[in-house]
Amino acid sequence: MPTPARPRIAVLGAGSIGCHLGGLLADDAEVVLIGRPGAMAAIEREGLTLTGPGEALRVTRRPELATDARAAAGADYVLVTVKSTDTVAAARELAPHLSPGAVVISFQNGLHNPALLRAELADHQVLAGMVPYNVVRTGPAAFHQGSGGKVLLADSPHAAAFLAAAAGTGLRVAAHPDMPGVQAAKLLMNLNNAVNALSDLPLREQLGRRAYRVCLARCQREALAAFRAAGLSPAQLGAVPPTRMPLLLGLPDPLFKRLAGAALRIDAKARSSMWEDLRRGRPTEVDALQGEVVALAERHGLRAPACARLVELVHEAERAAPGTARRWSGADLLAALG
Ligand SMILES: NC(=O)c1ccc[n+]([C@@H]2O[C@H](COP(=O)([O-])OP(=O)(O)OC[C@H]3O[C@@H](n4cnc5c(N)ncnc54)[C@H](OP(=O)(O)O)[C@@H]3O)[C@@H](O)[C@H]2O)c1
Repeated sequence: MPTPARPRIAVLGAGSIGCHLGGLLADDAEVVLIGRPGAMAAIEREGLTLTGPGEALRVTRRPELATDARAAAGADYVLVTVKSTDTVAAARELAPHLSPGAVVISFQNGLHNPALLRAELADHQVLAGMVPYNVVRTGPAAFHQGSGGKVLLADSPHAAAFLAAAAGTGLRVAAHPDMPGVQAAKLLMNLNNAVNALSDLPLREQLGRRAYRVCLARCQREALAAFRAAGLSPAQLGAVPPTRMPLLLGLPDPLFKRLAGAALRIDAKARSSMWEDLRRGRPTEVDALQGEVVALAERHGLRAPACARLVELVHEAERAAPGTARRWSGADLLAALG
């Protein structure tokens, strides 16, 4: 595949992750952010501010702004950063406008977004990507990265120009040979999103409390059993092998804090994007996270009751008026999981 010197990158779904990725890449690529009119107007008015753990991240060139998938025409890469609930609609909007050689990269959580995109965009290369840290909106045009880590991208010749462009920017990206394993490992971590959203606490505080961690450990055990049955092996992304994580999560608070190290190196403001969705009255991705574990378990004759209960509780919270959902204590949530 020819490698354009300065690739054109369109980002469909300019929210937290889209603005973070697109804003950083604009240093060394022609970037267009495609987002909702209100969100794009805020960036137009205020400029894009990206901050990270301890410092402002660099954005030297403002990306172009657009509100229609037509702006993806001519892009070498199209990054899909909409929520999983919007993937199919986004693919259908993109389909008539993609250039013949355009490579589509999903930077979404969950296991199935690349496959959904491939089904809709059969003439295009679709690669899986993974953002390991969390990014929250801290102002109308401001986004904060809560912890460190490298973005991972499928190891493919089609990723070469993207990796080359990213190398000249503040975005840390590496190729990985086993993206299904990476996505499974990320799903294990994302099972905390529901726990965090229902706790209404910052991530560091919530993960510092054992009862919430045991809720997460139960979900992870169910997911690990379903992965095993499906022949899916989660990649090891940090110091702890995925199969050991539930054990670590169940340790008493002082021991967990001593051993967890990197897991708690999250800044005090960071929250899960599912918490943000509930605050704003938007649908969450729980069906693509805990819901995915329930479905995978069922397909292999297993049950995932803790995940199933969390799906119900998050849907209940979605039905509450924004900002009024119950704040679950760790003990109450653990009891509710049965
Ligand atoms: N935030 C994180 O920390 C994080 C970390 C790693 C991975 N991820 C994953 O990244 C994906 C995006 O998450 P996010 O937190 O960035 O979500 P987000 O802030 O909600 O951003 C998505 C944006 O895309 C917009 N959108 C949806 N469909 C669109 C369309 N057809 N055209 C233009 N704009 C459209 C949404 O607008 P509306 O809300 O108006 O629909 C929203 O502003 C998810 O799969 C998430 O799991 C997130």
